[in-house]
Amino acid sequence: MTSLQRAEAAEHALSQELDRVVVKSVIYTSGEHDPTKPMPRPPDQGKRYLMSDDPRLPKMPDKPTLFDFFRYRFGPSAHLCQSARLAQKSGASEKVVLACLLHDIAILGFIRSDHGYWSAQLLEPYVDPEVAWSIRYHQALRFFPDEAAGYRYPELYAKLFGPDYTPEPYIHEAHRYARNHKWYMTSRLITVNDLYAFDPGVKVELEEFTDVVGRHFRQPAQGLGFDSSPSAHIWRTIMWPTRYL
Ligand SMILES: [Fe+2]
Ligand SMILES: [Fe+2]
Repeated sequence: MTSLQRAEAAEHALSQELDRVVVKSVIYTSGEHDPTKPMPRPPDQGKRYLMSDDPRLPKMPDKPTLFDFFRYRFGPSAHLCQSARLAQKSGASEKVVLACLLHDIAILGFIRSDHGYWSAQLLEPYVDPEVAWSIRYHQALRFFPDEAAGYRYPELYAKLFGPDYTPEPYIHEAHRYARNHKWYMTSRLITVNDLYAFDPGVKVELEEFTDVVGRHFRQPAQGLGFDSSPSAHIWRTIMWPTRYL
């Protein structure tokens, strides 16, 4: 058995145990599975399809907060917390600290590809426009050094993507646009504090940023996902990633 077949077999066994049928969204398997071909689905054996909470995931509160998403749906947040701490230590404004704390949330809980755009879209209804803007453009700015601002092209990128990697034209265009924008430095500061070479001994907890988030993130009373904002549906999808519809 290949490892993909093994994973599929394990998943099949798991779906047998569930009393609802779970069908994966195309984007979960696109590439591993040819997206133009029908999705293989577990035999339903008369079972109903999952339309609510996935029993394999921790249950979320009825009115979830941003931190609930960090606790129950996002991957480890050390990178974000450490970036925010670094910004704080350098005397950056609370807006910049918040931007650093949230800049990669799409990677933590949704989709990696174009993560700056997704992160910004998730946050836009709840934060200052400058914070969302700077998060959107940090993705492009990461590829372009600005020595005067203290930002060099990351060695990590050369390692991950190869020394000859050049981003797509739309990223060059986004960089040109952001470079001349009045909020450029806010976005640039995300990249300056966006470091991966951390001291593994340093632990930063999300709760350290409770006050900053409380002051600068407009938590909706109905809970994220239930407030009819332009991004509420994305929060719901993160909460219920396996619903049939
Ligand atoms: Fe990023
Ligand atoms: Fe980052």
